[in-house]
Amino acid sequence: MLKKPQQFTQNKQVVRDLQCDSIRQRFPARLGALSYFGLPSSSLDDVVQWFPLLERITAVERGEAGTEWQLQHELLVNAFRLGISHKLTLLRGDIDSVLLSGVDDHGSHPEWPYDVVSLDYSGGLFYRDEPGQLRRLEAIKRLFQRQATAGAKEFLFLLSFNMDQIDQREVRESLETVRRDLKRFGYAADQVIDAYLNHPKEQARLKLYVMNLIARLAARENFDSESESPAFYVGNRGTEMMAFRAYMKASSRTFTPRSPKERLNQIVNRRMVEIADGRQKQTNLGLPLIKADSGEMG
Ligand SMILES: C[S@@+](CC[C@H](N)C(=O)[O-])C[C@H]1O[C@@H](n2cnc3c(N)ncnc32)[C@H](O)[C@@H]1O
Repeated sequence: MLKKPQQFTQNKQVVRDLQCDSIRQRFPARLGALSYFGLPSSSLDDVVQWFPLLERITAVERGEAGTEWQLQHELLVNAFRLGISHKLTLLRGDIDSVLLSGVDDHGSHPEWPYDVVSLDYSGGLFYRDEPGQLRRLEAIKRLFQRQATAGAKEFLFLLSFNMDQIDQREVRESLETVRRDLKRFGYAADQVIDAYLNHPKEQARLKLYVMNLIARLAARENFDSESESPAFYVGNRGTEMMAFRAYMKASSRTFTPRSPKERLNQIVNRRMVEIADGRQKQTNLGLPLIKADSGEMG
């Protein structure tokens, strides 16, 4: 065992509870038979809590640079100790590499598709690789492709990350695209988008950026996505974190790429959950809403 086991905050437990509620609500007829792909950490807190709902768990763990084996070994020891190892497979390495290349550091591969995909990153979203590509975002795009290619009919997508290295150009230009799209549908968007762009909290812009990104990546692969309220909270070592949940349902396939089913005005108007001291409350961070009657689509 490690001298210092991985430990998480009470705010993180509220996120796990929200995620658990989503799993129960989205798969009422299949509880107990679900598959999980993601980052449970060596403490396995999420998969232990959700264990009665799961039949198959693929855990990915890269460990810490130089001592990768240590966290990986700890994860397996804990899985055994907690009596969940018969359902668990460990993939070793970086999850983005697994998504991009299809295999882990030892050539093992996930068994696509999965019902619950939890990309519970410790770091930020906007890491770039050597040629300067947004590698993590590429990996997420690849996840949707892999799920679609493997014939996923539905899945719950969970994404958590911290506020590291936010790519301001990427985020702000995407919000300008949202502004243009809203205006195209006749919405009075300027006041709303300006409020996002000028808001003191990065969480405001990331809410809109990430929800729009997920809806679009889903639509490219013919999934209709239904978002749930994004959460923000302070995690370990005072790190500001965000957690997103979106349910994907395969739609009837047409050759022509579709627009997201969830409308942009719905995404803009989705409230957030602020979690502090282990308690949650709904907030819109003082941001204005898109008025229902101002657009052609209503
Ligand atoms: C935030 S923790 C997961 C917490 C867990 N889902 C829970 O609810 O308690 C992330 C875990 O995944 C590992 N990890 C973070 N980023 C990773 C990556 N890109 N590839 C593989 N493992 C990663 C970390 O070492 C850590 O053990």
